[in-house]
Amino acid sequence: EYKRRKEMFRAHDLAAKYYHHILMNTDAGLPGLRYLESRGITKTIIETFQLGYAPNAWDVLVKFLLKRGFAEDLLVEAGLLSQSEKYKGRYYDKFRHRVMFPIHDGQGQVIGFGGRILDKGEPKYLNSPETPLFSKGRHLYNLHRARPVMRQEGRVILLEGYMDVIMAYQHGIPNTVAALGTALTNDQVRLLQRNVEEIVMMYDGDAAGQKAAVRSSEVIKESGATVKARVATIPDGLDPDEFLRKYGKDAFVRVVLDNSSSMTAFRMHSLRKEFNLGTQSGKEDYIKEVIHKLLVTVGSPIELETLLRELSEEFGYPKEAMEKELALAKKSP
Ligand code: UTP
Ligand code: MN
Ligand code: MN
Ligand code: MN
Ligand code: MN
Repeated sequence: EYKRRKEMFRAHDLAAKYYHHILMNTDAGLPGLRYLESRGITKTIIETFQLGYAPNAWDVLVKFLLKRGFAEDLLVEAGLLSQSEKYKGRYYDKFRHRVMFPIHDGQGQVIGFGGRILDKGEPKYLNSPETPLFSKGRHLYNLHRARPVMRQEGRVILLEGYMDVIMAYQHGIPNTVAALGTALTNDQVRLLQRNVEEIVMMYDGDAAGQKAAVRSSEVIKESGATVKARVATIPDGLDPDEFLRKYGKDAFVRVVLDNSSSMTAFRMHSLRKEFNLGTQSGKEDYIKEVIHKLLVTVGSPIELETLLRELSEEFGYPKEAMEKELALAKKSP
């Protein structure tokens, strides 16, 4: 109920401040600070994102919050503590030896955390579970900070991860959000559509990222959202954080952002992998699939013209043949 939620908000606020304090002001926080330095994150950005550190111990947060009068069961339900399986009365910190990324709701209240492991290990990021405050499909990392610029620019850049958003911010690109490690949901599309006219999806350049981009395009398409969507592809299998650190902001804007494709063009290209374009029949099947599955849904004649021309030039089919195929596709869906 209301009072319990309010307590959970207060616990998260205190926990975020405590993790941040440990990172910035204590010896226990040094591993976290060194880690963030190694990733090229500045002190200013640590402050802006209120990053923190959960020390390598079992009961740091337990003690801190119990002293402040919180009930154990509330903290477990809030996802901050875990209960021992063996000794039911025993509680321990859920996040240990991790760099802490507070996750905020649209109003800027802390509702959960992502905690990154310092070394190799699983999971790389431990996230808050689904709780009365936090549901990963209904929130976006950094939305409350990005929103004013999103509205001003009419555009948001959707990235995969915490570090991508933070590095973009550090490079003067504040209008980015991340979908908390899941496929984009309808709720998230709606959150974005309320604030911008255009979404630029920029997933990691690896195979997983490209697959996620395809899936998210489908979600946007099927959501019936009127928002424009484009897909930017990062070269060399890099993610935005890695690309920015390696090549800087200008290259990022020029090579990645300004080179985004329409959703249809992106899906047209990613569909290639499913056909054997080395054979004549493979080419034909591919072109038919593109026309019947993708081009029929393109509303803009100008975009359609561009895509048809591209197909025609690449595969050497006359555009007229493809236009006829398209007419057929429109008649019999
Ligand atoms: P990535 O595997 O691309 O990680 O996952 P990353 O963001 O590049 O992380 P760094 O640079 O190695 O620190 C993208 C996002 O998916 C979610 C996180 O939100 C992550 O930022 N994720 C990934 C998890 O929630 N848990 C995981 O174990 C891995
Ligand atoms: Mn501070
Ligand atoms: Mn990734
Ligand atoms: Mn990544
Ligand atoms: Mn990364």
